[in-house]
Formats: sequence, structure tokens, C-alpha cells
Amino acid sequence: EKGGYDYFMLKEIAEQPKAVADTLLGRIDASGSLTLDEVRIPVSVLREVDKVVIVACGTAYHAGMIAKYAIEHWTRVPCETELASEFRYRDPILDSRTLVIAVSQSGETMDTLMALRHAREQGAKVLAICNTNGSTIPRESDAVLYTHAGPEVAVASTKAFLTQLVACYLVALYLGQVRGTKWGDEIGTVIEELSEIGNEVEEVLGTMEPVRELARSLADKNTVLFLGRHVGYPVALEGALKLKELAYMHAEGFAAGELKHGPIALIEQDVPVVVVVPSPRGRSVLHDKIVSNIQEIRARGARTIVIAERGDETVHPYADHLIEIPRTPTLLQPLVATVPLQVFACELATARGNEVDQPRNLAKSVTVE
Ligand code: F6R
Repeated sequence: EKGGYDYFMLKEIAEQPKAVADTLLGRIDASGSLTLDEVRIPVSVLREVDKVVIVACGTAYHAGMIAKYAIEHWTRVPCETELASEFRYRDPILDSRTLVIAVSQSGETMDTLMALRHAREQGAKVLAICNTNGSTIPRESDAVLYTHAGPEVAVASTKAFLTQLVACYLVALYLGQVRGTKWGDEIGTVIEELSEIGNEVEEVLGTMEPVRELARSLADKNTVLFLGRHVGYPVALEGALKLKELAYMHAEGFAAGELKHGPIALIEQDVPVVVVVPSPRGRSVLHDKIVSNIQEIRARGARTIVIAERGDETVHPYADHLIEIPRTPTLLQPLVATVPLQVFACELATARGNEVDQPRNLAKSVTVE
């Protein structure tokens, strides 16, 4: 049942190109428009939405953080992403023009369920992004967009995360489409790129041997830090979460712009720091700022592990280890940048003798608070 892999996690990492393609299937028509008929919230309601709030936990929350960048950019509707466990105890401001998106692989996470119940009581419309057919969260929502990752057995979420991202992009683009925002042309291009992204994920998977080797070489470290900016920031958080839960190491993700506000004090000789570098095209200002961050931490002794777009030579002089990923539009980069971090965490866990599919103290579905 593990299909020749030692662990479900390895199998599920390898299944990601298909999971991503399956989640797109039937949702982009021949003319390149989105057809999300299954989102039963009427277009007239979606046009009136004046605020989007995303609620989720753990890895699903990281997908939601990335969705915020996409939704605000493509739709110009204000969007907040919040931990479900914080949201529902905070007396949030919601009304009938608020669209709440609940992201959950299992569809059974108690905090996310309670958050959506609270939102519906306040009159908000709730759209679930979920992987498990007929589970509680989609049953209690106004509408559901299923991710088609297939069953995810390993406790650590991998293919579900990538498909959550795809579903979030689809919702963001669909909102942009029905609202006719000024990014019309860009939306068309992104839809095209998104429909090809499975191939890029496949390409990344084919280049992971050096990442595994690097992971093994770090097995006796105590700490790994992760830096990112813009959509690379949630990717850094996700890389750190994977490492905590699988390798039981101290791992922390930071927004690179925050370095000087504290985290840089953690940089000492030989501490591994993974840096997710945005594309040098697009938001090039951010790219250049991150390259300076890499220089700064390296000057203080950090061992830099740099994830950057293929052909981005500006990072080469400062990368102790370079992990190249394919070119993608900035907002879609998490789909390819996360994959090496999953492989990295899985290999480190194995090297440390940990049980990859069943990390200690964790459950696949958290149905208690
Ligand atoms: C991490 C992980 C957890 C889940 C979180 C939410 O690898 O799997 O952080 O993402 O418990 O679970 P769902 O998506 O089922 O609501």
C-alpha cells in the first residue's frame, strides 16, 4: 500500500504532481476561464463580498496565509488569515458580506469547525476547502471546494498542503474573475501557468538527491532557522513546522524583514539557515533585500541554504548550499519552494531515527481543542 516507498510520507510527496493536477481538473475550461460551479455561493453574493477571512490550523493555516497575498492582489478585497483557535475566542467582526474560508485536510479539526460555526452564526458565508469527502466541515459550510489529493495517511501534511494552495489560488482567481478586477490579463496568464504547475513540481522532485544528502549531514544539529518574505514567509513557517514535527528539532521560521528586530541575534557560527528567495523578476525589490539578508547572516557565520529560482546568479556567491527551483509567477512559487523543505524534513527525521509517518505526540486529525 506504500507503493514501494518506505514511508507513506515519501509516497505522498511523490504523488504531488498528480494531486495538483487532479485538483485543477475540470475547473479550467477550454477558453482558460475558471468554472467553479460547485461553489454554490451565488455570483451575486461573491460580487458583494467586502472582506475575506481565512481560518485554519497548522499547515492548512500556512496555505491560508499564502492565500491572503493572492486574494488581495488579484481581487483587491481585504483578506485576513487567522488561526482558527484564536479567531473564535476573539469576538471577530463579521456580517453577511464577509466570506469566511475554512481550510482543512481532514474536515474534522475541532477549532476550524468551531470557527466556521461562529462565522455562520454571525451571518457570514462559509466556503470550505477540504480534502475529505462528506466530513463535518464541508457538511456545515455553505459551499465546498474539494482538494483532490486523495487519502493522506502520513501525519505530516504534504500533498494536501499543495492542493490546498491550488484550491486557494482557484478561489482567489475565481473571485477576481467574477468581480472583473483590473488584473484581468494577469489572471489569464496565471491560470495558464497554474495548469502547467504539476510539471514543475515533478521537475523539483527529480532534483532532490542533494537535498537529502544535505539533510543527512545536518542530523546532529540542534537548530535550523528559516527565512522568507512575501509568500516565501509562510513557506519558511511551513518548512520549520515540518522539521519540528518530524525531526523533533528546534526550527523556527521568520519574516526576513524582521531579522534586525530580534532574530539576527540567533545567528552564530554554523547555524543552518534556509532562505526562500523570491523571483528576481516581479517583485525584484524584495529579491534584492533578501539577497542582502543572506549576506548579513553569512557574514555572522550562518551556513546558508538558499532556495532560489534557476538562473538567479545573484545568490550564488552567498549560498553554501543552493537548491534551485523552476521559474514561476511570484504568487505561485510556494508550490515549488515547499517541496524541497518536505524532502529535507523527511530525510532529517529518518537520519535521526524517527518514525516518519507517525511522529510522537501527534494525531492526523485533531478533533479536540
Ligand atoms: C502538519 C499538520 C497539521 C495539520 C493541522 C490541520 O503537518 O498536518 O498541522 O495541518 O492539524 O489539520 P486539517 O487540515 O485536517 O484541519
